[in-house]
Formats: sequence, structure tokens, C-alpha cells
Amino acid sequence: MANVTFEQVTKQFGDYIAVNNLNLNIEDGEFLVFVGPSGCGKTTSLRLLAGLESITKGQICIGDRRVNELSPKDRDIAMVFQSYALYPHMSVFENMAFSLQLQGKSRKEVKQRVQSAAQQLGIEKLLNRKPKELSGGQRQRVAVGRAIVREPAVFLMDEPLSNLDAKLRVQARKEISKLHEELKTTFIYVTHDQVEAMTMGDRIAVMKDGILQQVDTPTNLYNNPTNMFVAGFIGSPAMNFFEVEKVKQEVKAYLQLGRDLVPLNHYLSQLTADIDDRPLTLGIRPENIYHPQYLPPDIQGCKIRAEVNLIEMMGNELIVYLETPDGAEFVARIDPRARVRQGETLDLLFDIQRIYLFDREMETVIFAK
Ligand SMILES: Nc1ncnc2c1ncn2[C@@H]1O[C@H](COP(=O)(O)OP(=O)(O)O)[C@@H](O)[C@H]1O
Ligand SMILES: [Mg+2]
Repeated sequence: MANVTFEQVTKQFGDYIAVNNLNLNIEDGEFLVFVGPSGCGKTTSLRLLAGLESITKGQICIGDRRVNELSPKDRDIAMVFQSYALYPHMSVFENMAFSLQLQGKSRKEVKQRVQSAAQQLGIEKLLNRKPKELSGGQRQRVAVGRAIVREPAVFLMDEPLSNLDAKLRVQARKEISKLHEELKTTFIYVTHDQVEAMTMGDRIAVMKDGILQQVDTPTNLYNNPTNMFVAGFIGSPAMNFFEVEKVKQEVKAYLQLGRDLVPLNHYLSQLTADIDDRPLTLGIRPENIYHPQYLPPDIQGCKIRAEVNLIEMMGNELIVYLETPDGAEFVARIDPRARVRQGETLDLLFDIQRIYLFDREMETVIFAK
């Protein structure tokens, strides 16, 4: 078991900066997820930790040991790759036993460790099969099994579920979370899928263009994103953004959203008065927009007129794609009982307690509830 620290870690490939000054402390026993769009530097960060890439600047520690100069096999980590990389000519048993045999463990210990891992993963009956005789889900378990037999201090997993179909992915997600609970070892997990990140991570590190944007618990990321990127990346359908302008009518302050006005409470009118004339973006999540006939009694709605472009009936909710008269598009998740027709104009209600404000140019958050 060990904590892991990235200290001002930068990785350059020629002139290209794949990881830019990464600072991150991962607690002993924590399940940390790196998430972000393709190419943002997730795999590179993991490979730097594993010793499969050299570090351009900064240092990485596992426990209190600096590992920059250590070879991969001396770092006490095990990695599960996206491509599983099982040896095709070896049986499941041999695949799982291989690294232990390399370490010179006794036959008895190898057998005992492989069997115990196989039991934990429910693959005892597959030990004599070759990889080509396994389903995708079984191969994925063997790849995990091959990592756990080594009893490493830290597990690294790079998109281990991306080759599975949607249903298996959900199941495998739960199995990996359960494995983490049982082993109580540090897990560092990479995915581009925010749902996977939200459901599995104790904390999530959101990356973009090689730069760590925010690291926090799923709930805090969702409620208090530090910028528009995180706000838009976490949550599905994504948060809606509108360019708005501050206006005053008599003594009350509003945000002008197209032709409609969003009233500001005392706190927000103070806040927006204090930040002079920076251009603002309003954010609101699809679930905080209501159909006029299905507004819960305790919610204060602000009317925004829009035309319905498209409707997706999901059974438990209605996803409605809308457009204001000024052409701003947005998405609402509304009560499935609402009768909505394509092409109709509606007065939607925005929950004004749930609006976010961002600096439009810097894209940083000004207000989150
Ligand atoms: N060996 C390499 N040589 C040059 N560029 C690389 C190399 N490995 C990764 N990159 C680049 O670094 C960036 C980050 O890659 P990667 O860490 O694989 O992203 P992610 O896993 O988040 O999709 C990408 O733009 C990728 O093309
Ligand atoms: Mg990757």
C-alpha cells in the first residue's frame, strides 16, 4: 500500500507538452480516476507513473520513495491496459502466473496466488483455457487477475472496460469497485467516460490539454465546478450555457438572456455589481429546467421562451432540445408526463436557485450554488 505524488510533473514529446506541470497527491488506498477527452494526457500520466515513459521535469513518488530513476519492475505497481495484452499461446493460468514466475516465486506460492485471485474474480473454471476461448468480459477479468496476483502497492488501469458492451461495462464497473473495497489498495484508473468516473472514483482528476483542471469528489465536481470545461464535462446531458448581460430595471438587477430576464437575488446582484463589466455566461443543468405544468411547488422558476426542436422519450424522463428566439440552443430534462410537441413554443422554467455564473472570457466560475 502506498500514496502517490506527482510534483510539478511535465512530459514533453519534442515540442509537444502532453502533461503540463501536474501536481497531485493520491492517498493510500484511494480510488482516483483520471478523466478527460481523448488526447488530454491521461495515459501519459499513468505511463510516467509506471515508468514506461521518462519524466521531462518534476518528480513522482510512491510512498516516500522518488521513482523517477526506478525501472518499472521495481516500482511495486501493476497495470491493466486497454488492450489486455494477454499472451495468446498461454493458458489463463500461465498468463496469470507469468510475472510471479519471473520473480522466482515457488511453484506452490504461484499456484496458491493464482487460485486465490481466480476465485476472487470468478474465473476458477477458466484456468486451462486460452485467451481466444474467452469472451470479452472473461478476458478483462484475466487481465485484472494478472495484475492482482502480484499484490502491488498501486494498481493502474487504463480504460480497462472500453472493449466491453454497455451492459457488461456496468457489471465490470461494480466488480472493480468491489475489488478495490476488498484489496484496500491504491487504484488509479483512467477513463474518458464521465459516468464511469463519477460512479467509481473516490476523487476524480479532470484533465484537459495536459493540464489538471480540478480534482475533487464526484459530488463536489458536479456542484462546484471550477470552470466551464469541468461544468460541461461532468453531467449528462451537459450543462447549458447562455451568454447573458447584466441589466438594471428600477432597483432590481437581472440577467438578460435573449428576450427574457432572469432576476438576481440580493446576493447575486451584489456579486455581479462587484465584478464590474466582465462579460458573463449563465450555466444551468438540464435537470434544473422545468415544463410549466410540472414545476415542483418549492421551486422558484424563471420563464424562458423557446421552441422545441427535438424530443427524446427515455421512459423515466423526457429530454427536450430547444432553441430561444435568438438562436441559443439548450437541453431540458423534464417530467415524462409533460405533453410536448416538436415545433411548439414553450415557456420553460429555469430554477433560479440553481444557476451558475461564469466569466465568459476566462471561463472560470464566478458563482456556483
Ligand atoms: N510517444 C508519443 N510521441 C508523441 N506524442 C505522444 C506520444 N504519446 C502520446 N503522445 C501525445 O500526447 C497527447 C496525450 O496522449 P495520451 O496521454 O495518450 O492521451 P489520453 O490517454 O488522454 O487520450 C496526445 O496528443 C498524444 O498524441
Ligand atoms: Mg489514453
